[in-house]
Amino acid sequence: MYTEIININDEVGIRRAADLLKQGRTVALPTETVYGLAANALDGEAVKKIFRAKGRPQDNPLIVHVAEFEELYPLVSEVPKVAKKLAGAFWPGPLTMIFKKSGAVPYEVSAGLDTIAIRMPSHPVIVRIIKAAGLPLAAPSANLSGSPSPTSARHVIHDLFGKIDGIVDGGDCQVGLESTVLDITRQVPCILRPGGITKEQIEQVIGEVCVASSVLEKTGDGQKALSPGMKYKHYSPKAKVVLVRGSSEDYVSLVNGYKAEGLFALCFDEDVKKLTVPYLSYGSCKDYKTQAKLLFSALREADGRGASVLLAHSPEPVGIGLAVYNRLLRAAEFEELLL
Ligand code: TXA
Ligand code: MG
Repeated sequence: MYTEIININDEVGIRRAADLLKQGRTVALPTETVYGLAANALDGEAVKKIFRAKGRPQDNPLIVHVAEFEELYPLVSEVPKVAKKLAGAFWPGPLTMIFKKSGAVPYEVSAGLDTIAIRMPSHPVIVRIIKAAGLPLAAPSANLSGSPSPTSARHVIHDLFGKIDGIVDGGDCQVGLESTVLDITRQVPCILRPGGITKEQIEQVIGEVCVASSVLEKTGDGQKALSPGMKYKHYSPKAKVVLVRGSSEDYVSLVNGYKAEGLFALCFDEDVKKLTVPYLSYGSCKDYKTQAKLLFSALREADGRGASVLLAHSPEPVGIGLAVYNRLLRAAEFEELLL
């Protein structure tokens, strides 16, 4: 398939991306979190192309992106009060809310569930494209299913060139991890996936929220996942990831004495000086924002450099650190070495 690289330095590129989407085609575009692979959310046939290009399991529903709050009304059957409060505080931005869906949502988008995930992104490029197309856009992360989400157009080209109709290059993503997914259809809203907006920030606006057990634990066989995406292996580079929690001293001494071929350290800036093996640093140990921004590209770079075992220094699971930790835990198939 011919994949057009679309330049967005002028209005022509925005209109070209919008036209492709109106024709029922797939376009990868930047958001503030990660790159998304978009299609018209109201066109089931267009949405099927997303699943095919990514190799995405059919029971994993998509997030729908809107540019104005009003655009969610046709998509949902109910707007709980908390939705308005949360939108006032965090939209546009990296928060996805789960609503009861309306009849206008194609089966493919919600993968047969009676709910729909919606978010209003803040990146100016996707906002302009949604407005130019006049459509809500269904968009999962623009990676091959299972691999780390793309935080630059280069990553999208690596995974999906020749499989989709267009790629819009908008530079590097600022947040670097996917949005926080919050289920607001329950009495106590529940975080299904931690992300750029933290539990603490949400609680300041609406009071108590819970965190789904699948954030920190493997979904058992036969157990129903609240968020279907949480049951799949995710974010994995080709290298085997071993997650290590401990002080800089303990981490460094484990890594320096570790015997494995193709060993790489995925470490913090503080660890670098003392390491005697090849490494990639993904920020300072307490700077969770930078870790979030750099994690996925570091995982991809490790593969590019031929790593076969990646010893990852784990952040503390607090604030945005919880989101970083969640992605690494999944990459490590829920195994962690505590030092
Ligand atoms: O930041 C993001 O959220 C990015 C950008 C492109 O917006 N998108 C993204 O989409 O990460 P995706 O498809 O990679 O992840 C969507 C997650 C999956 O875990 C999926 O299972 C969950 O949201 N999800 C979608 N609809 C849902 C629903 N109705 N109920 C529960 N979980 C849902
Ligand atoms: Mg994804």
